[in-house]
Amino acid sequence: MDNIRNFSIIAHVDHGKSTLADRILVKSKIVNERKLVPQMLDNMDIERERGITIKARTVRLDINWNGKDYILNLIDTPGHVDFSYEVSRSLAACEGAILLVDATQGIEAQTLAHGLLAIEQDLVLIPVINKVDLPTADVGGTKKEIIDVFGFSEEEIILASAKEGKGIDEIISAVIERIPAPKGNAEEPLSALIFDSHYDSYRGVVAYVRVFEGEIKKGINIKLHSTGKIFEVQEIGYFRIEPEKTDTLRAGEVGYVAANIKNIEDARVGDTIEEDKRPTKRILKGFKPPLSMVFCGLYPINTDEYNLLKDAIMKLKLNDASLVFEPETSAALGFGFRCGFLGMLHMEVTIERIKREFDIDLIITPPSVVFEAVKQNNEIVKIHNPLKMPDPGTIVSLREPYVKVSIFSPAEYIGAIMELCSNKRGNYIDMEYLDVKRVIMRFEMPLSEIILDFFPLLKTKTRGYASLDYEFIGYRESDLVRLDILVNREKVDALSSIVHRSKAQEIGSKIVSSLKRLIPRHMFEIPIQAAVGSKILARENIAAMKKNVLQKCYGGDITRKRKLLEKQKEGKKKMKMLGDVQIPQEVFFEILKNS
Ligand code: GTP
Repeated sequence: MDNIRNFSIIAHVDHGKSTLADRILVKSKIVNERKLVPQMLDNMDIERERGITIKARTVRLDINWNGKDYILNLIDTPGHVDFSYEVSRSLAACEGAILLVDATQGIEAQTLAHGLLAIEQDLVLIPVINKVDLPTADVGGTKKEIIDVFGFSEEEIILASAKEGKGIDEIISAVIERIPAPKGNAEEPLSALIFDSHYDSYRGVVAYVRVFEGEIKKGINIKLHSTGKIFEVQEIGYFRIEPEKTDTLRAGEVGYVAANIKNIEDARVGDTIEEDKRPTKRILKGFKPPLSMVFCGLYPINTDEYNLLKDAIMKLKLNDASLVFEPETSAALGFGFRCGFLGMLHMEVTIERIKREFDIDLIITPPSVVFEAVKQNNEIVKIHNPLKMPDPGTIVSLREPYVKVSIFSPAEYIGAIMELCSNKRGNYIDMEYLDVKRVIMRFEMPLSEIILDFFPLLKTKTRGYASLDYEFIGYRESDLVRLDILVNREKVDALSSIVHRSKAQEIGSKIVSSLKRLIPRHMFEIPIQAAVGSKILARENIAAMKKNVLQKCYGGDITRKRKLLEKQKEGKKKMKMLGDVQIPQEVFFEILKNS
């Protein structure tokens, strides 16, 4: 076991984690530079296009270093704020991590957030400054930040250019010399951590595991601690570039286990695997079921595609334990699904995959957080859908989720960030200087404000320089109301939302004026209103149409008349009827896209 090193790379998005991972892979015996596909560890198309690592992937490398054979298990971690729980479990599988910082950017939000997660787990950190080849690299400033923030000494910091292959040998030496070999006893009862999983149509769920004690062998019965469910191990193996079967995974090792598990929720990240007959005392700490923070409705634009959409969501769910969904019906949009996600990025990626991999056009209702209603008997009801908000008379109070936001930015934008956060109902907590030029500002803020348009506004106000991290801190009482939109006095269910009372007027007026622009005229006048309860906050009228469509024909040609009527009928098919009002499908699409 003393030749094994289990480690991860911690880096903010774009600081070069995948490029460095590829460089380390090249040093192993099985890959040479010719076979290397750029960023081999990011193996989903969308990840590659967006340049972000979403799902952790792992690889085992054999390396001969100074005449001795080593096994390096590089455990890749997702780099985005939605996936910090997965990051913490991947780190829990390691003894150390490379802390990679871009010399042109310095320490960013995820560098610090994930660095702190690693320190909490007592990992050995190896600080590396990347991209030193760039003319804009500020090696001195970045060094100083790393020393000040994490307390390293200057001698510990390695300078590298993953792109040009500089510093790679030094990094590998540091991994071997500074990170301790795993400890553990293969004779003890089995205790293994699941740090990731994926679904494979032949093997069922493949769980990625780190064995801490004991060993996993083919044919034994394993028990998943959190559910008590028992499965027989069918296959175990290592992660090479392709999976490679093996007979046993022993204490200290990292690999995969397939045990005919059909449902990904039965192999939850963070859970402990033990042997059914020999339960372990070493239940691994930190297990948490995934928490859906953001919900939205997904409807097919073409109602015939409902079953296709259902299949698509179920297929994605096979691979994604944190995706939750249930069928939902809307008077305006028809049949669809209400889906829950870990955060906005998780939502965006899932929707993009449905559109792209399954070729389904979607209408997406505005994302919403999960609100809570406190009833008179103190019972708490979760509200996943604005339409399910209880009658205000039946509840004591409403609550909404709050997060602690950390924003990293050049100091010149402090004023702009303060203003933005206070507009978003944020409470300032504190501010710290990373160095003379850069600060971390912290706020408490409702999550609902962050999922609206906070990211793009922050980027605009700081010219793209700020980065952000947030963590859920709990529910707080809040003055919330349901904002309804009425067209010709009929409520349009798909457009209802729960908002803070102070924002209802502004949001309502915006939707009402967009609807006025988008809904075609009818033979009668159509009032469009935004309302909270019976109180109307905004109103516009669509004036009645004066001419009917046949008048254009000047009474003459009958075939022309028929054609025109048919065309009109065709157009009607794509309309949604709302009482007497016909609303073209695109209206929902446009409104929901812009809101
Ligand atoms: P995520 O997967 O989003 O977490 O990003 P990442 O940290 O894996 O970054 P990635 O390796 O994709 O690199 C981001 C960009 O920086 C790419 O365009 C790389 O080519 C570039 N890059 C990485 N390392 C270096 C380096 O040492 N020097 C220079 N000049 N560019 C680099």
